[in-house]
Amino acid sequence: MTYLSATNSAKIELHLHLEGGAPPAFIRGLAQEKQVDIGGIFDTHGNYKYTDFWDFLRVYEAATQVLQTPQDFHRLTLAVLEESAKSGVIYTEAFLSPDFCGGRDVGAWREYLHAIREAADIAEKIMGITLRGIVTPIRHFGPDKARETAICAAETAGDWIVGLGIGGDEKSGHLSDFAWSFDCAREAGLRLTAHAGEWGGPDSVRSAIQDLKVERIGHGVRAIEDLALVDEIAEKGVVLEVCPGSNVALGLYPSIRKHPINELYKRGVRITVSTDDPPFFHTTMQKEYAALHDAFDWDEAFFDQLAKASLDAAFCDADTKARLHKTLEQAHA
Ligand code: ADE
Ligand code: ZN
Repeated sequence: MTYLSATNSAKIELHLHLEGGAPPAFIRGLAQEKQVDIGGIFDTHGNYKYTDFWDFLRVYEAATQVLQTPQDFHRLTLAVLEESAKSGVIYTEAFLSPDFCGGRDVGAWREYLHAIREAADIAEKIMGITLRGIVTPIRHFGPDKARETAICAAETAGDWIVGLGIGGDEKSGHLSDFAWSFDCAREAGLRLTAHAGEWGGPDSVRSAIQDLKVERIGHGVRAIEDLALVDEIAEKGVVLEVCPGSNVALGLYPSIRKHPINELYKRGVRITVSTDDPPFFHTTMQKEYAALHDAFDWDEAFFDQLAKASLDAAFCDADTKARLHKTLEQAHA
């Protein structure tokens, strides 16, 4: 394997926050256009500046203040997908938050969604990247707002909005507080994922599986602290949306070499690789692949198999999957 062939291969990304993918220059530009004061969220190089995960959430939410209209989200979607496509991503699932798209009002949410989908259609035609949406309650906004968010998700569930997946501060409340929202989404035919096992330990991962009945987990890496849980995850086929660069940037692990992704894989867990909030963490899918190659010697055949397994774990419909599997086969031939 050459370094280049692996990093250039066709990729599938399952864990990307749309607002978290906003290039800092894009947010600065919108702030200037709209004369919005978002405070000192950039460093002297123009990158996002934060001290830890909780400060990251504050900066993230400050940046979203400039995203005020469906048209802003249209532009954001194009900017984010352009970066992903440059990294060789052919399919991505993005977390979308009705909290930032019309304050969880279903009518307003539909307008934002329409604008996002229009941008996604353009990106698919000109960049060859397919996008699907996962509606995202924000945990520290509380269970009541999560219910309204789940209703937005249920009302727009279909072949484009394909899932529900809670994000935000894992230390806020308990996952079981959100069971109503997850039941509502499941009944509407949505597939389920939850951030767990990032800032919470194995119990948080267990709760996602037992209380919310998710089939995928955002991060989930701290399951490694309980090997019986790792076995259970492997046996049940629960998929981990692992974001190694995010975990290192936020200080969860000191380096990719010390990250448990390879250990989880070797223990039979279905792993996938994503960027989470790429500009915040100075990462891209290409950089993730290069770092994993360097740390664990994952080769081209491994990455090809990873892309296929990730597509198998995607929430999109069977026809879309079959089309994308063909694209992967052609790209990896
Ligand atoms: N929202 C955006 N990025 C997140 C992360 N890494 N964990 C939880 N919520 C998030
Ligand atoms: Zn995330």
